[in-house]
Amino acid sequence: MHSLEQSLDKALIEDIVTRTVDELTPHGLFNFNAPRQTLMGEGAILRIGEMLGKLGVTHVLVVADRVVHEKGLMKSMERSLERAGIEFTIYPAITQEPDETVVASATDLLTRNKADFVLGFGGGSALDAAKAIALTGSSQSSLHQLAEPGFSGRRSVGLGAVPTTAGTGSEVTDISVIMRADRLHKFVIKNGDLMPDLAIVDPGLMLNLPPMVTAATGIDALTHAIEAYAARNSHPLAKALAICAIQSIAEALPVVVGNGRDQAARLTMSTSSYKAGLAFSNSGLGLVHAISHQIGPRYNLAHGIANGILLPYVMKFNALVCQREYAAIAHMLGVTHAGMTEREQCMASIDAVRQLLSDIGLPEDLAGTDIRRDDFNAIATEALTDVCIATNPRDVTEVDIVKLLEEACGTKKNL
Ligand SMILES: NC(=O)c1ccc[n+]([C@@H]2O[C@H](COP(=O)([O-])OP(=O)(O)OC[C@H]3O[C@@H](n4cnc5c(N)ncnc54)[C@H](O)[C@@H]3O)[C@@H](O)[C@H]2O)c1
Ligand SMILES: [Fe+2]
Repeated sequence: MHSLEQSLDKALIEDIVTRTVDELTPHGLFNFNAPRQTLMGEGAILRIGEMLGKLGVTHVLVVADRVVHEKGLMKSMERSLERAGIEFTIYPAITQEPDETVVASATDLLTRNKADFVLGFGGGSALDAAKAIALTGSSQSSLHQLAEPGFSGRRSVGLGAVPTTAGTGSEVTDISVIMRADRLHKFVIKNGDLMPDLAIVDPGLMLNLPPMVTAATGIDALTHAIEAYAARNSHPLAKALAICAIQSIAEALPVVVGNGRDQAARLTMSTSSYKAGLAFSNSGLGLVHAISHQIGPRYNLAHGIANGILLPYVMKFNALVCQREYAAIAHMLGVTHAGMTEREQCMASIDAVRQLLSDIGLPEDLAGTDIRRDDFNAIATEALTDVCIATNPRDVTEVDIVKLLEEACGTKKNL
């Protein structure tokens, strides 16, 4: 009896030891989430009916950008769905960055039409609205519940994305950025089920994108790539995608801003935005996005414009801990030469980003906005609660953000 007890104890202790070792051994793991299927290239949209048919889809709710709809950019999709015998309802109500109200109004359409697939069609605004509608509508959860850390609503309808801008990468991310009803604050929902099942990326849909929108959205993609490359949680796969995107954006962005009908450059921007989106969705972002989510709504700045202004200032702040990463970025931006120290390369990357902003005609500081010094503390407090702050490579305090905003105000007087 005594020896049976002893052997039971021994087995129990062995079990505890192996469990503990098994718990502690894995480290540096990373998870990688991506759409199950992607079709990319000129004319890809003409295959949508075929692809959704194979998935057994019967009714698609298309959440679309109004301008994109009015410009007739959805005609090829409509023809393709009709040929495949798939019913669809177009909801072309996205006129600006989406808020809670627009999401709530379309959620009802999902059930009324018995749609089994939601397709976002447009820039990041339409895609984020579609993703939020698919998740809230089919999981019977509110946006607020979904935004709570740890709350996991499950999507039970299919989800697809057709981007018409090359910037947000929303077609390959598991996040949706939504404005509060007061349109003064944005919140970010991160949920594995926000990752689309299908991404259809057709650069032909972007040929008439105006130069200013092309520039702003392209800088958003560059910001994703730079923040993902240097992020605290970055990993080899995300870094590989990000660094590759940085190089191709630097080459193609000036070209598409100067000649929007350059098909090869539009394709390069679409693939770069896709790569940067995958990189940041799996590694996280940083301080640029944490602040931009606050100042964008407050001062009515487009997401890409706000990011572009902040990017060099945040890079300068983060340089303390990212010298090696920024030196590698300088290399990709083609601004290094033999004999440069790592520190010089790091600084050259920041100058190159400033030069790119100037070349493509984007503002380089907040001087043209309504920003006031009285707002700095509130912006800083809110930025510190943004989901993107956790992966910024350098620790950040409220004082740091206030100082950074002062610098980013540039020549603005009477703050
Ligand atoms: N989910 C994500 O991963 C993610 C990442 C970054 C940003 N975002 C969010 O995405 C939104 C911004 O998206 P965006 O930068 O793509 O801008 P957007 O979707 O707001 O579009 C910008 C403008 O371009 C127009 N437009 C779009 N496609 C066009 C085309 N092909 N031809 C002509 N005009 C066209 C739109 O009508 C709009 O006026 C913000 O809400 C931002 O917070 C989301
Ligand atoms: Fe962004």
